[in-house]
Amino acid sequence: MIRPILTYPDPVLKQQSEPVTAFDSALQEVIQDMVETMYAAPGIGLAAPQIGILKRIVVVDLKSGAEGAQLFVAVNPEIVSCTGEQYGEEGCLSVPDVYESVWCPQKIVLRAQDVKGTEWTLEAEDLLARCFCHELDHLRGVLFIDRLSPLKRSLVKRRLKKAQAARQES
Ligand code: NI
Repeated sequence: MIRPILTYPDPVLKQQSEPVTAFDSALQEVIQDMVETMYAAPGIGLAAPQIGILKRIVVVDLKSGAEGAQLFVAVNPEIVSCTGEQYGEEGCLSVPDVYESVWCPQKIVLRAQDVKGTEWTLEAEDLLARCFCHELDHLRGVLFIDRLSPLKRSLVKRRLKKAQAARQES
């Protein structure tokens, strides 16, 4: 089921997510909904709080379901190590129409569990590392616009408030 995606400034997006403890059919259903919602958007990553579920779950697929896609389902993900830095543009399904460049690690080692609770680890670099870092930030209530310089951030937030006011008037 495709679920509505919460957008800034929804307060849920600022909250901390809880670890997943039950690897049951309810978890399977949430993950399936997350994948469908990500593909429908379309997006290359989605974190559970973006659909209003404060659990440590993210899904990532750089091809968003297109040919050659590789879907990662990361339950209780943790970044074990980071190397280097990269600077590049990010966007977010919860922050529509905003694309800004931010710094993040060049390479990460990620440890997570799958839908059944089996642990897996991954070495990710470039866009894949950026995507996981972005999604994991959602789990601690951080949006990519929070990582902009204070000046840039206030400009972007003002622009978002104006766009929201325009939507409410129409
Ligand atoms: Ni995002």
